[in-house]
Amino acid sequence: SKLICFEKINSTNTYVKENYKNLDNGTIVLAKVQTQGRGRLGRVWISQEGGLWFSILFKKNLKYPNFYTKLSAITLLSILKNLKISAKIKWPNDIFFKEKKLSGILTEIISKNGKVQAIVVGIGLNVNNETPPEGTSVSKVTEKKFEINLILNLFINKFNIYYKFFRLFPFLLTIAWKKNLIFKRNDIINGYKIKKITSEYLIVEKNGLNKKIKSIHELEG
Ligand code: BTN
Repeated sequence: SKLICFEKINSTNTYVKENYKNLDNGTIVLAKVQTQGRGRLGRVWISQEGGLWFSILFKKNLKYPNFYTKLSAITLLSILKNLKISAKIKWPNDIFFKEKKLSGILTEIISKNGKVQAIVVGIGLNVNNETPPEGTSVSKVTEKKFEINLILNLFINKFNIYYKFFRLFPFLLTIAWKKNLIFKRNDIINGYKIKKITSEYLIVEKNGLNKKIKSIHELEG
């Protein structure tokens, strides 16, 4: 499939959303720098030079958006393991090493007249770039610099293998995702006991009351 590279762009996800009609299924859009990188829940994703910022377009045989998010998370963990980094998933789909964020995933649905046309998965991985204090990078953790293209290739190869496998056995993807979460069912965070974990929400309980939450920050306060 095709790879499109930009020195600088507003956001690779935005580019794919605006141009999906003219792009092939499986196209990857990479940028060295993003000037308006976007994160989940309307947050800003700082994307300076040295990081891996890219998006993948899916137009055919579409599955649920979460399929792509989980697949990306599992792929990231696997390539990080190759780089000797034992990372975990912080629910729902942030990749953490110890207490610090290494990578984030932003999956967006492209729809027209209420019909899903395509799905774009945007991945940001801190590699050689500077990060805010709550983040970390592959180079900080390993004390080495990495070629961005090498990491992208590792990702694409692993992703393709996992894609073929997990399309056939999607329930195994959910099992793999749950297995790699930092916290699990019955864990207690700030007095909230986790009763149920799905990719969309958590059900937590405190003082006998159940609460449905969509962001972990609702527990961290
Ligand atoms: C998050 O953690 O909130 C998700 C961050 C996703 C960042 C990536 S970088 C490539 C793609 N383009 C964007 O604007 N965002 C995603």
